[in-house]
Amino acid sequence: MKVMAFNGSARKDGNTAILIGTVFGELEKEGIETELFQFAGKKIQGCIACYKCFKNKDQRCSVKKDVVNECIEKMVEADGIILGSPTYFADISPQMKALIDRTGLVSRANGDMFRRKVGAAVIAVRRGGAIHAFDSINHFFFISQMIVPGSIYWNMGFGLDKGAVKEDAEGLQTMRILGQNMAWLLKKIQE
Ligand SMILES: Cc1cc2nc3c(=O)[nH]c(=O)nc-3n(C[C@H](O)[C@H](O)[C@H](O)COP(=O)(O)O)c2cc1C
Repeated sequence: MKVMAFNGSARKDGNTAILIGTVFGELEKEGIETELFQFAGKKIQGCIACYKCFKNKDQRCSVKKDVVNECIEKMVEADGIILGSPTYFADISPQMKALIDRTGLVSRANGDMFRRKVGAAVIAVRRGGAIHAFDSINHFFFISQMIVPGSIYWNMGFGLDKGAVKEDAEGLQTMRILGQNMAWLLKKIQE
């Protein structure tokens, strides 16, 4: 079993990555393989609304010049998908929005490719707007017929500077419980 995570932050190995890593710790304890894909330093553009994915129906985006098709392949192979984003102006980062719009449309054009995979959103935030960013990612999971586990709080961790989220004990605990619930759910689905 494998969980693939995508970090939509422009900052590599920052707070979003630390939160995802905390979820990974619990998944790995249960023998679940994990992989992190970070968007920092990589090119990704928004959907150009060509609708060629509906015509081609080849499970790929017709815009081939960036990392999106590589991401789609990784998502298709995975049993669980974590979408992590920092909060930027009370919402997800543009990188994460581009990933959602393009993989989401390709999925819809191909009969909901991620149907019944397990999905979890992870949000880093300094102070405000995390719940909106969390909701934005969950909109993608729910319209994709994905199954979403919960935790003891909504999946967010607080911190401004790189690494500051390590001081947010409740945020880290929320991620650990999320990882445990995700592992439990993945195993139940495989039964
Ligand atoms: C462009 C930009 C916009 C931001 N907007 C918000 C915001 O609306 N609310 C907030 O609490 N923090 C905001 N922040 C702070 C980040 O969410 C916070 O530093 C987060 O921990 C960054 O995660 P990262 O280390 O994974 O990049 C913003 C940061 C940037 C760069």
